[in-house]
Amino acid sequence: MRKSMRRFILVLSTIYMYSSLISCNSRNNEEEDLNDIKIGISVYEQDDIFISSIISNIENITKEKRSEGSYSITLNVEDAKSNQYNQNEQVDMFIDQGYDVMCINLVDRRSAATIINKAKNANIPVIFFNREPVEEDMNMWSKVYYVGAQAEQSGMMQGDIVIEKYKKNPRDVDKNGDGKVQYVMLEGEQGHQDASIRTEYSIKRLVDNGIKVEKLGSEVANWSRTEASEKVARWIEKYNDKVELIISNNDDMALGAIDVLNKSKIKNNMPLIVGVDGIKDALKAIDNGEMTGTVISDAYKQGKAIFDTALRVSSESILDKDNGIDARYIRIPHVIVTKENVGEYIR
Ligand code: GAL
Ligand code: CA
Repeated sequence: MRKSMRRFILVLSTIYMYSSLISCNSRNNEEEDLNDIKIGISVYEQDDIFISSIISNIENITKEKRSEGSYSITLNVEDAKSNQYNQNEQVDMFIDQGYDVMCINLVDRRSAATIINKAKNANIPVIFFNREPVEEDMNMWSKVYYVGAQAEQSGMMQGDIVIEKYKKNPRDVDKNGDGKVQYVMLEGEQGHQDASIRTEYSIKRLVDNGIKVEKLGSEVANWSRTEASEKVARWIEKYNDKVELIISNNDDMALGAIDVLNKSKIKNNMPLIVGVDGIKDALKAIDNGEMTGTVISDAYKQGKAIFDTALRVSSESILDKDNGIDARYIRIPHVIVTKENVGEYIR
């Protein structure tokens, strides 16, 4: 058991003993209230594969903690179905029902202020995750937290996968040998920090390492496998086998690219394809050689950080302040996966 949790339970039992001294009647109610931690989660879109894996990790961690039996946890996961209005309603519901902490995966990352104001009025800490509020909003209140990935690092690591290949044999990347890497970019979602930062840093990394690049196209495919397939189909029509590299802001879109490439006439002369996330199907595609590599954005560690932060901050009012909760930004580092090490990650 973590030290802070031990302390938390100690404080709880002290309060419980104290309250049972002053009022025998309210004893049972007090006990129930103090030991039940209510965590409300709202995700922007439950169909998003990466988000759903963060959630299932949180659910599993919650189950483990529950079975430790020292306190109970109520976990409620709501799906905003890509609609900010739905999400705001879910926040109102969490507040009305007296939740201790809210974990919010914003639909629109520029809409954090409305939610922060609601949370602040009700004095319920809020942990945003994966879709990062702008700094100005993060600074509106001290009980606002963010858990996510290090977006710059994921972009740079995508670049590193390509650089590694290039160093071994430039012609494996620059297939037509014209001294430039012809690439296309599959972008996640307009306005999403992970999309714009990955797009920028992946290319910057290549250029900083002396690799000349030529952009043939760039399209927003909203993290979606099917949308990515459509965009890539058009590029194949236009450029045939001229595309040497597909950089995708996430794995699901990279898989969409592979879906159409496999059905096309350039099936046997596939471009290099790199993604981000490390979802199961992408690891399989790397293992069987269809995909060059990915960058794992650790859905377990992010889920764990959300859960741990939720427990810590929901009990903040009765804990002393020196327990490390002032880290308001928690960013989980990435790992590069290619054919060489994919065996360690495939389950
Ligand atoms: C990104 C992830 C995408 C998608 C998105 C949702 O970090 O790479 O696959 O899940 O978050 O906000
Ligand atoms: Ca070339």
